[in-house]
Amino acid sequence: MKVVLVGYMASGKSTVGQLLAKVLDAPFVDLDDYIEEEMGMSIGELFSKKGEIFFRKTEFQLLGKVLEESKDIILATGGGTPCYGNNMQTISKNSNLSVYLHLSIPSLVDRISREKDKRPLVKNLKDENLPEFIGKHLFERRSYYAQADVTINCDGKSIEEVVTEIQSHYSK
Ligand code: S3P
Repeated sequence: MKVVLVGYMASGKSTVGQLLAKVLDAPFVDLDDYIEEEMGMSIGELFSKKGEIFFRKTEFQLLGKVLEESKDIILATGGGTPCYGNNMQTISKNSNLSVYLHLSIPSLVDRISREKDKRPLVKNLKDENLPEFIGKHLFERRSYYAQADVTINCDGKSIEEVVTEIQSHYSK
């Protein structure tokens, strides 16, 4: 079983993915961690030393690699993964289920303001500029996220509730 989680930064892809993997007894991979291991550099260093275009090419190559070489996998992608190249096609071709974890802008602002540092795209923004940035960015990205097989509205839901909802689609 291959399940791919997509969604904006801080939407809970890794946390939900880890619990889902535990419940399904399947391997869990976080694409950002996989990129960091393969490249021997943190995502922050990749952005600052090599630039975003290099990061996107690497992300594209390693997305294909990890999905092709795994039989069973729960994959948490990066927030931008579905929005570049033909990554969304790669995801739908190489997975049984893709899931968009949707959160409202206020929820994303709240979460991201608490964990900006490891995210190069937002780390230099002032907190007061986050709502406008996230609102516009999400607007640009939502047509990609919407291509996932299933959208789950995660506002006000626990991780367990989100996982149960994913499982209900998985068994359909
Ligand atoms: C990015 C999201 C990050 C990471 C990189 C770029 C994005 O992953 O891949 O900083 O473009 O939204 P998370 O969604 O895990 O923060």
